[in-house]
Amino acid sequence: MPPYEKFLQEVLIDAPTLQARVAELGRQISADYAEVSDLLLICILKGGIMFLVDLTRHIEVPHEMDFLAVSSYGKGARETSGKVRIDMDLSAEVTGRHILIVEDIIDSGLTLRFVMDVLKARRPASLRLCTLLNKPSKRQVEIPIDYIGFDIENKFVFGYGLDLDEKYRNLPFIGVVNLDMLT
Ligand code: IMP
Ligand code: MG
Repeated sequence: MPPYEKFLQEVLIDAPTLQARVAELGRQISADYAEVSDLLLICILKGGIMFLVDLTRHIEVPHEMDFLAVSSYGKGARETSGKVRIDMDLSAEVTGRHILIVEDIIDSGLTLRFVMDVLKARRPASLRLCTLLNKPSKRQVEIPIDYIGFDIENKFVFGYGLDLDEKYRNLPFIGVVNLDMLT
């Protein structure tokens, strides 16, 4: 039995379903940005990494990618405090460019609210948001989302970039965490 299995209540989204949806999002983004010459994908680390790597291969318009690492602090690993800080900033210029944020999951919305405010202050030509997962039931602040992979229920999930106490981001599927197994 692989080590992650004791934490896995059920597979919520299997690998082929994820891959098919990511390809679909890539096609949609390619069509929407067909006339744009300087698209910049901004991956929110660490959770967005698997999604970014798969998504970029389905985007046919030339684009750059950059990485922004943020973390929330002040509460436990599975609950956000709303206090967000930048751990690693972008190297790319944002001003005047077409920005698409690539995120793993939007829960309360507080992380993305912070990220969008930071990026807006740098005056991009456009700013859109693509999230693989959306948990609308836990939203605390309204966030306009342009591309959503899947709406999911209010369950704690892991795999495909999302961590369980920093581990198991490498799993090729999204699983629901068996909370009874966590201390
Ligand atoms: P928000 O600020 O509440 O929207 O939370 C966003 C961040 O919390 C995400 O970028 C994730 O890193 C983390 N997060 C929220 N829900 C989950 C989950 O179900 N599994 C793993 N990480 C989560
Ligand atoms: Mg996290």
